[in-house]
Amino acid sequence: MNLTDTVVDDPESGVFRVHRSTMTSQEIFDLERQAMLKHCWIYLGHESELPRPGDYVRRTVLGKPLVFLRDLDAKISAFYNTCTHRGATLCRQDSGNARHFQCFYHAWSFDTYGSLIALPDELGYGPHFDRNERALVRPAKLDNYRGFWFVAFNPDIESLHSYLADATEYIDLVVDQATDGMRIVDGTNLYSTSANWKIVVENALDGYHGLTLHQTYFAYVKSLGGGMTGTSWNSLPARDLGNGHSVIEGEAPYGRPVARWDPLYGEDAKSDIQAIRTELFDRCGVERGTRMADNMRIIGIFPNLLINDIMAITVRYVEPVRPDLMHVSAWALAPIDEQGARLRRRIDSYITFIGPGGFATPDDIEALESCQAGFASLPEACWSDLSRGLTRLAGLDDDFGIRTFWRGWHAMVNDNWPPNRRQTPEAVIDDQQSAVTEH
Ligand code: FES
Repeated sequence: MNLTDTVVDDPESGVFRVHRSTMTSQEIFDLERQAMLKHCWIYLGHESELPRPGDYVRRTVLGKPLVFLRDLDAKISAFYNTCTHRGATLCRQDSGNARHFQCFYHAWSFDTYGSLIALPDELGYGPHFDRNERALVRPAKLDNYRGFWFVAFNPDIESLHSYLADATEYIDLVVDQATDGMRIVDGTNLYSTSANWKIVVENALDGYHGLTLHQTYFAYVKSLGGGMTGTSWNSLPARDLGNGHSVIEGEAPYGRPVARWDPLYGEDAKSDIQAIRTELFDRCGVERGTRMADNMRIIGIFPNLLINDIMAITVRYVEPVRPDLMHVSAWALAPIDEQGARLRRRIDSYITFIGPGGFATPDDIEALESCQAGFASLPEACWSDLSRGLTRLAGLDDDFGIRTFWRGWHAMVNDNWPPNRRQTPEAVIDDQQSAVTEH
């Protein structure tokens, strides 16, 4: 199928749909990967994962094995995790601390700056052998925004700050919840899902499924005397943040460690959460502080990073593996200095909802895998509908955030980058009204 025709975006007719071959085709999977390598910055890790010189973690980013590390000068760096001798995997531990990396195949050794520092029988390579030509290879670009590090594979790509566009405002809303910055809590949740990677992006930006698929969680919160009383969420308009990034935001129907008490936390926590709230309001002002404390938000950083700032903060990286398989890495984000009961509350909230065995994730995976099975079993039903909220000021339970992702995707795979931006949902309505006037 022609990639141009994979997304139908027609606000005048109230139609937004996506062809399901985007979820099943190996050819489209390969093309979108090439497009991501060309146009996108891809999340690599958080600097707090590397607190000491020599710390490293292994990552796979769009199929490329990388080592994310802090060199012995304490500078953050990254290398392809492949030996420059004959290609073997250089670093074979998922994480650790090293002064150098020695390849297990023929024992070439590299320091944390990527230089080849030793090899057996170097004289055997003759007088023209140059260690400098055998240094480890770095990705084309590496940069960070407020501790979140990204790589890019296109040397001519725009700057990270420009690429993130207005998503920076929302990363700020997350990071500024802490006085001294955020850290990744030790440990990673890793799981695989037999579904296309884009379905979990849709799922994250889809408030519509919350009350149905996750009703057991809301019933649980309610049974403890908390949670929402109505049937819909108090939502802000969903936003297009540029370059395919989007956010949905609204008043949280549950407690938040910063800083919204809920019966789930118990009476003992009330005064402590009030103290966090007071500090937050003093530091950030009442208006911004209230938004940070009382609102939940889900930020989609195009293409495959999701930040769920909900009843805890989860950072999720989605690695596309095959058209019908993704690997997800999820981490809890917490203030650097948070300890004791405050940290326990946060981790408990994280695990209870979005942990691999929580109220949400198993249900989500069941839904995503059933969608993928449906795509394969009934190719005649070849379109997915994403038009909810297209003709109104869209909120967090509409499809606005998902449409923003797909507009980014469509622009990316058709080499028409950057995508046209819908500044606000009203712009869609304005478009419609002017179209009606023109007719
Ligand atoms: Fe690494 Fe030979 S492949 S030393």
